[in-house]
Amino acid sequence: MSATLAIHGGRPACPQPPPPMYPGGNSIDAEEEAAVLETLRAKRLFRYYGPNPGESKVAQLERDFAARAGVPYALGVTSGTAALICGLQGIGVGPGDEVIVPAYTWIASASAVLAVGAVPVVAEVDASLTLDPADVEKRISPRTKAIMPVHMRGAPADMETLLALAQRYHLKVIEDVAQANGGAYQGRALGAWGDVGCFSLQFNKIITSGEGGMVITHDETIWKRAVMYHDVIGGRRNHFASEEILWGVNFRMPELLAAVAQVQLRKRDQLLARMRQQKQMLRGGMAEIAARRGVTFRTLHDAAGDTAIALIFYVESAEVAGRVAAALQAENIDAARLYEPDVIDYHVYVHWTPITNRRTWHPAASPWRDARSEVDYSPAACPRTLDLLGRAIHLDVNPLLSNQEIELMLEGLEKVLTAMA
Ligand SMILES: Cc1ncc(COP(=O)(O)O)c(C=O)c1O
Repeated sequence: MSATLAIHGGRPACPQPPPPMYPGGNSIDAEEEAAVLETLRAKRLFRYYGPNPGESKVAQLERDFAARAGVPYALGVTSGTAALICGLQGIGVGPGDEVIVPAYTWIASASAVLAVGAVPVVAEVDASLTLDPADVEKRISPRTKAIMPVHMRGAPADMETLLALAQRYHLKVIEDVAQANGGAYQGRALGAWGDVGCFSLQFNKIITSGEGGMVITHDETIWKRAVMYHDVIGGRRNHFASEEILWGVNFRMPELLAAVAQVQLRKRDQLLARMRQQKQMLRGGMAEIAARRGVTFRTLHDAAGDTAIALIFYVESAEVAGRVAAALQAENIDAARLYEPDVIDYHVYVHWTPITNRRTWHPAASPWRDARSEVDYSPAACPRTLDLLGRAIHLDVNPLLSNQEIELMLEGLEKVLTAMA
């Protein structure tokens, strides 16, 4: 190993940059091709009918998804955002309500809340980079209707404490599992803890059909409401009692998408097993140098349930994080920073400018029109989140890397952290 950092002209620890991080996307092979061809040849492209009889792929996918999550109901939709909107409609969130979301999540978590006419209230994350229950409690107001834990970068939020809090204040819980498909908390699938769980199948998620989403729940009423909202005639189609039927829109999942997602779902466990093994190697291999250099790892509320798509560690300051990330990148290690004030990133609430500026599609329908909703989206609202993200270094755990390539990554990490001033 060259002792000189690559950023100073030494030989990079890894001979080339890793392949792009698309765990499910990169695993697409003849199985997905066959599933798509089968669907095309059957000319059955729409969930509810086609020229030939046969069971819908979407219905099969919902059954598989629900069984794996251990819940009775699953509903396929067109995206993770659509899943969140249907989930929020399912639990009855609407105008006048507030939903507490983490200050670190993809903007869609908050825009889904706005889409149903409610106000997103941001709360701090803890060192796991998921909702901090103690801070959530401070943000509860008489208007709070629900809490949205987001299992960010593959790792479970503190569901036991959050559920106890929700129970104490009579709040609903909607889990955003977009980034943690297949993860668990205390042995139960993520998404199956709250009133409703919402998944994304968009291309850079753990498994993918390019786009797509899934809503899961234990509750028949929530499922029925989601069904009616996701399909303009969902109520009639499913023979719900006519006086109960509500109007809906159209977030119906296409059959071709379900054909791909079904195959991907079957690959999920194997992908997770590989990433968990790699992450263990990386974390174990880094433990000694991390301890020596005062580097701490992201805390995990349940290490066994972590999907292991990422290894995140904290250095002492944002300034050091900038130098460490640049030095690691020069070693061909895909290190990313999670927050830089001047780099727009819609995963961090202060960058959600359409929301922080309270822009609306129609002035009469602004969820913020009520003066009682004095929500703070300024940097002062969640300083701990910004501090944690600013000091964080994010490494992808890429299932395409061999053990030998992980060893090279470890050499690069050792080199950079040793040189870290
Ligand atoms: C945490 C989180 N929530 C929601 C979404 C929205 O999912 P989609 O892009 O499928 O609408 C994403 C991903 O894009 C996400 O990462």
